[in-house]
Amino acid sequence: MNNLIDGRAIAADIHQETLVRVSALKHQGIQPGLAFVRVGEDPASQVYVGMKEKKARELGVLSHTTVLPETTTQTELLVLIARLNADPHCHGILVQAPLPRHIDAAVIYSAVLPQKDVDGFHPINVGRLMLGDAGGFLPCTPVGVHELLVRSRVPLNGAEVVVLGRGNIVGKPMAAILIQKSSRANCTVTLCHSATRDIAAHCRRADVIIAAIGVPEFLRADMVREGAVVIDVGVNRLSDPSIKSGTRLVGDVAFGEVQPKCLWITPNPGGVGPMTIAMLLANTATAAERQFGFFSEKSVDARLRP
Ligand code: GUN
Repeated sequence: MNNLIDGRAIAADIHQETLVRVSALKHQGIQPGLAFVRVGEDPASQVYVGMKEKKARELGVLSHTTVLPETTTQTELLVLIARLNADPHCHGILVQAPLPRHIDAAVIYSAVLPQKDVDGFHPINVGRLMLGDAGGFLPCTPVGVHELLVRSRVPLNGAEVVVLGRGNIVGKPMAAILIQKSSRANCTVTLCHSATRDIAAHCRRADVIIAAIGVPEFLRADMVREGAVVIDVGVNRLSDPSIKSGTRLVGDVAFGEVQPKCLWITPNPGGVGPMTIAMLLANTATAAERQFGFFSEKSVDARLRP
């Protein structure tokens, strides 16, 4: 049954588009630069930042990673961000989450210059998204999910969408993108969370379900109507002594039982993950274009326009 949305193939198309944009910038003597900041030795963050660095290199984006010890103070991190904000060679800044508990992530994300905030986490960019202002940056994972839906030609205009999870990185911005008054959105969105009374009933009405709730295999077959589109954003690490690494990754969707009911479904891995990286590098190209007054169709985000 081939009803899989191939995130790797769609991400590869976006990387190709980004490569063309980066090449055009270089042709004008502009070298796009992206700074990564990682604090502590969270193993998942090490892997994620490593994958982002590798892809940046492949596309000709100059990246530089600063790794700070777990004991770094909030002030020390703010000093680094101020330096990157002032660095003319750095067009985008990404501070990998999660941060150590003694650091207030909201303070850190507010310190990144909004025009370098390729993560879309700064309150100014969050506000721009809510207002439908295309001049900001959209967060990479939800915008990647939106791009998967658009490029897979999933009808969104008037669709009933259920978003599972109300986190600041995925759930909330996901809902904000899909409710935009735009022919590429115009959805009726239900945002479900831990206090929602009957999540299954909401899900069964949905044309599209986006699972970002952080509970392994939360979405079961009896919660999905025939012909729905299901997007699995979940990355849950479960301990499993039967395999060598001792852990395995599980999504938020019980894939085996849900897949047969779907019109389209993302595999996991190979669905949303590659899109997050693709959108980060597309945002970085946009940041560099804007900082040099370039005007590219891609740099003004059409998804927020009517
Ligand atoms: N950690 C998990 N997802 C993300 C993301 O999109 N950006 C950053 N900076 N950290 C993350």
